[in-house]
Amino acid sequence: MTATAIRTSPAAPAAPRGEALRPPPAEAPYYVPAAHEVDVFLRCHARGLPVMLKGPTGCGKTRFVEHMAWRLGRPLVTVACHDDLAASDLTGRWLIRGGDTVWVDGPLTTAARAGAICYLDELVEARQDTIVVIHPLTDDRRVLPIDKTGELVEAAPGFQLVVSYNPGYQHAIKDLKPSTRQRFVSLDFDYPPAGVEAEIVAHESGLDRARAAALVTLAHRIRHLRDQGLAEVPGTRLLVATARLIADGIAPEEACRVALAGPLTDDPDLLLAIADLVSATL
Ligand SMILES: Nc1ncnc2c1ncn2[C@@H]1O[C@H](COP(=O)(O)OP(=O)(O)OP(=O)(O)O)[C@@H](O)[C@H]1O
Ligand SMILES: [Mg+2]
Repeated sequence: MTATAIRTSPAAPAAPRGEALRPPPAEAPYYVPAAHEVDVFLRCHARGLPVMLKGPTGCGKTRFVEHMAWRLGRPLVTVACHDDLAASDLTGRWLIRGGDTVWVDGPLTTAARAGAICYLDELVEARQDTIVVIHPLTDDRRVLPIDKTGELVEAAPGFQLVVSYNPGYQHAIKDLKPSTRQRFVSLDFDYPPAGVEAEIVAHESGLDRARAAALVTLAHRIRHLRDQGLAEVPGTRLLVATARLIADGIAPEEACRVALAGPLTDDPDLLLAIADLVSATL
């Protein structure tokens, strides 16, 4: 839900409002493309096709959406989905304010009215009765029916729905239904090739290119520990955080311990294995 209430009525909805909207920044959010995802996304936007971004944590999905919103000059509305998210958290609700009952648009409604890009992060976490709310927005109708007011909000030109999901986390019980999945164009994300990842880590942290490349080599070795039971392997985000600490003068072993190994596991054997890889690599 958006924080600030603006008084309106279902019969005469207020003009688009901006409290949940993030206007495109002046400068391009830094994003290094992996393949043709930028072109495909631009075509999808032009055709009003919703897009699903699939990939592990910290591999650039959110940064990509921020970059595309900037490219398209559209505001961005982001919602982190969770299993408590109700349909009204997306569409809006009636609230009592100072003795008046006022309708407050939720972020999805705000985005639809404003022609914004609406990014539903980890959509699979939301309940099914919440997810179905997006269905009429994702087909040719491009409308959002709001049961509680009787209003049928037509998505303004430029509106686009983007969802992300991490296939690794999904349990059988928490998969998206085919009726939801098949509404989206799906773009696969993964950790970038080593040279590109080193460039990203150096750019984002200010660490020199050689040490950024060494961190990426280390990450590749740690990613192999998956076979030894490491459930979560380091994404680019963890490398950036570690590189920032090193760039700020923290000793590399210490930075890797607190920013790379610690966030990945509590298992003493795996922590030892990672520490060995750190000593051997850096
Ligand atoms: N292709 C890329 N170009 C530029 N920066 C990137 C790229 N991929 C990853 N990064 C860096 O990694 C960080 C994490 O990426 P991001 O937040 O986009 O991950 P995500 O895929 O959205 O992860 P999550 O699923 O956990 O939300 C970014 O803040 C950025 O510093
Ligand atoms: Mg993200």
